[in-house]
Amino acid sequence: MKDKLIIKLYLKDFQVESMEKFICRRPGPKSVRVISRDDKIVSPCVMREYSFVWKKAKGCYVYDVDGRKYLDFSAAIAVANVGHTNPVVMNAIKKQAGKLTHCGFSDFYAELPVEFCETLVSFLPQPLKKVFLSNSGTESIEAAYKLARWHTNRKWVIAFKNAFHGRTMGSLSMTNSRPVQRERYSPFLPVRHVPYPNPYRMGDCADQCLSELEKAMKSLKGECAALFMEPVQGEGGYVVPPKAFVKGARHLCSEHGVLLCADEVQAGCYRTGRFLAMENFGVKTVSSSKIMDWVPGSHGNTFGGNLLACAAGIATLKYMRQKRLGNNARRLGKLMLRRLNELKDEIEIIGDVRGLGLMIGVEIVENKRSKKPAPNIRSAILCKAAEKGLILLPAGKSVIRICPPLTLTRSQAEHGLDILEDACQYWHR
Ligand SMILES: Cc1ncc(COP(=O)(O)O)c(C=O)c1O
Repeated sequence: MKDKLIIKLYLKDFQVESMEKFICRRPGPKSVRVISRDDKIVSPCVMREYSFVWKKAKGCYVYDVDGRKYLDFSAAIAVANVGHTNPVVMNAIKKQAGKLTHCGFSDFYAELPVEFCETLVSFLPQPLKKVFLSNSGTESIEAAYKLARWHTNRKWVIAFKNAFHGRTMGSLSMTNSRPVQRERYSPFLPVRHVPYPNPYRMGDCADQCLSELEKAMKSLKGECAALFMEPVQGEGGYVVPPKAFVKGARHLCSEHGVLLCADEVQAGCYRTGRFLAMENFGVKTVSSSKIMDWVPGSHGNTFGGNLLACAAGIATLKYMRQKRLGNNARRLGKLMLRRLNELKDEIEIIGDVRGLGLMIGVEIVENKRSKKPAPNIRSAILCKAAEKGLILLPAGKSVIRICPPLTLTRSQAEHGLDILEDACQYWHR
């Protein structure tokens, strides 16, 4: 039974043909036990990249249940931006936990959620100053979707090909980064998908994509409520669009009375060097008071404004500002992009390197001329890196995604890149 399980895990981790050459580090005995229990009881719809079993984490380092230490270039899916178990945030949670954890903010008033909204707004470009508190990425997108329909009283929205906005039915109607995510779930809500500009794959494509977008808006004949857009496409492969496209999209939205909804879920706060990723393109979104005109009862939730989340949120935002994590993301991002671009010049299978701040994608291809995506080589590189103590994630068809905590230091960045370089060179040799 144990052997069978391990073979299955290896296959999950590492779908390559030449198994002997790239064998992932064998999970330790404690990891195997947890995975075996997980396999029996946890719904099989979730897709794990690694047989890594978390025990604890501190800053940019994570430890598995067998005591192995890894440098974390995933931030647990671009989430642990102030570093794992940040003491300032942990203290804020502990302090609040001793007072009150939940207040049903949809039905009652409380000061902490208001303070969180005020703190958040102090980071946003003005006049963006109304907040709805939700519990997850997909729930935020559902809220934006419903608000757009409420405010405009229109039925359609436009989203992009390869977009990822979440997995509940409204956001899933916009998501189309992987076929399995949509398979068997139609009918969807009325969404038109248009191409997202990918300079590596499509060259100088801003005008072409803008014209497709304009065509879609016109064809919806005044019935388009919103355009949903990731300022940097995340799950789709960390694709950075040309600035001219984003500005053009903003212009088209204004011209057609369409709301521009920026999905900043993956870019998070300061990951791209600016508080909002959209700010890199000189474009504004987020609901102003004028747009947030829905009435009491038209939307809500039970856990939004949860007091532990608000205490953590206030501490996180203040910590980010105090430690200038945006500057750190910009500085280290530039350094990492420079080094990865040098590596790209040396290594045939690195087709493209791109990113903003600490949101970096490395596209792995069969060779530079064909640009054919090479998912198996990508998996082998991820596997090799994990074996050497670096956690990375995939994105898109064959992209390695780099999204470490924003507290990363220069020496940690260099160390992680040393491991990644080794893993790429190993394949290259
Ligand atoms: C851009 C984007 N939007 C929405 C979501 C959905 O977030 P959640 O998984 O919290 O529902 C994600 C998750 O990765 C995302 O990357």
